[in-house]
Amino acid sequence: MATQPMAPTHAVVHSHHVPRRRQCVRRRGIFIRSAAAAAASSVVPTDTLSAAFWDYNLLFRSQRDECPDPVPLGVTEGAIPPDFPAGTYYLTGPGMFSDDHGSTVHPLDGHGYLRSFRFHPGDGRVLYSARYVETAAKREESGDGDGASWRFTHRGPFSVLQGGKKVGNVKVMKNVANTSVLRWGGRLLCLWEGGEPYEVNPCTLKTLGPFDLLGLAGSDDKPPPRENASARRTQRPWLQEAGLDVAAHLLRPVLSGVFNMPGKRLLAHYKVDPRRGRLLMVACNAEDMLLPRSNFTFYEFDAHFDLIQKREFVVPDHLMIHDWAFTDSHYVLLGNKIKLDIPGSLLAVTGTHPMIAALAVDPSKQSTPVYLLPRSPEAEARGRDWSVPIEAPSQMWSVHVGNAFEEENRRGGLDIRLHMSGCSYQWFHFHRMFGNFGTAQKQLLILHLHVAARTITE
Ligand SMILES: [Fe+2]
Repeated sequence: MATQPMAPTHAVVHSHHVPRRRQCVRRRGIFIRSAAAAAASSVVPTDTLSAAFWDYNLLFRSQRDECPDPVPLGVTEGAIPPDFPAGTYYLTGPGMFSDDHGSTVHPLDGHGYLRSFRFHPGDGRVLYSARYVETAAKREESGDGDGASWRFTHRGPFSVLQGGKKVGNVKVMKNVANTSVLRWGGRLLCLWEGGEPYEVNPCTLKTLGPFDLLGLAGSDDKPPPRENASARRTQRPWLQEAGLDVAAHLLRPVLSGVFNMPGKRLLAHYKVDPRRGRLLMVACNAEDMLLPRSNFTFYEFDAHFDLIQKREFVVPDHLMIHDWAFTDSHYVLLGNKIKLDIPGSLLAVTGTHPMIAALAVDPSKQSTPVYLLPRSPEAEARGRDWSVPIEAPSQMWSVHVGNAFEEENRRGGLDIRLHMSGCSYQWFHFHRMFGNFGTAQKQLLILHLHVAARTITE
């Protein structure tokens, strides 16, 4: 059996990481190699600083090979626990960074590479397979589709093309389905931050095609929600609001027609409410990136992808949200504040800078707005004005949230605990989200939100 390069895993299903040409993976104390690689070498790498440095950098090496037929892996150190559950671990992330014409893209613009680890603890077998997600962009950029030759033609939001068209290239949005993977309702979906998910066969990893989760392609075909969707609008001076309405009205056809952006930008981070058996997702409006007003539409699906409820909130802030949280009665958003960068916008138009250069973090406030959005009409009826955020006392850029839950305080009121990672705005830069090994300044944070008093302690 041929040796198959394997990719490193991420501790959870979601990953921005990438396969490298190494034939081993360490996870939870188990060291696994493909059978051929294990036979070829008995050297076990140690976790030195140097090894960790190269380990990290090799994450960003392109993977040209696929592994459509499952290959068995051998355990070379430790053992699979006897009570380890049988099942399949799916891992996605960017797999292709450099093409054959001189262009290297940002990891967030790398084509999605899906891997499957099928565990059979009874007989100690682990089967591995891997394929690229056959998105429309992947088919176009991989030539005849067999991956023998690659030419990047889309700029991608975070990248600059060296070998492709720069000025006037409006092919910015590139759905590479590389950000997260979801198993729900009998389907396997690969998600991206800004477009519809792609459905993949959970056994063969063959791409089945785009999955119209939000019903944007034909809303008449979707069953009506059991609760009526409820649009919400914040209180703002009417003239300012009217101006934003006009700007949004003008921007939408440009973003859709010229830049091929869907009207709703689905976030790749989803949540599962096990108590209610629901899948929770959120989408923003396409124009939110450019305007000081953010539209958040939360969707809750049952186990069959039927829409249970949809709630919409308009927040008077220019925000960029990647991850979020929920509790029994609220959706929780940490407001990462952004602003338009005019010089950066002009450079982006020339093609010498990525399109994301049009945005910059907005450090004008030293606090962080935390929005608690009512998940149900009952939660909304408690009277708190959800459009006014609770301000955390320090400035934090939040990327990922671990958990959130509610608890009753000693006065009988509601408190919310939020576990998240964050960093100061001075440490966050859109261009340098990867590659600054050894200088990470992120912190794990626990926020204690006192809802009635509208205060937060860290
Ligand atoms: Fe993420």
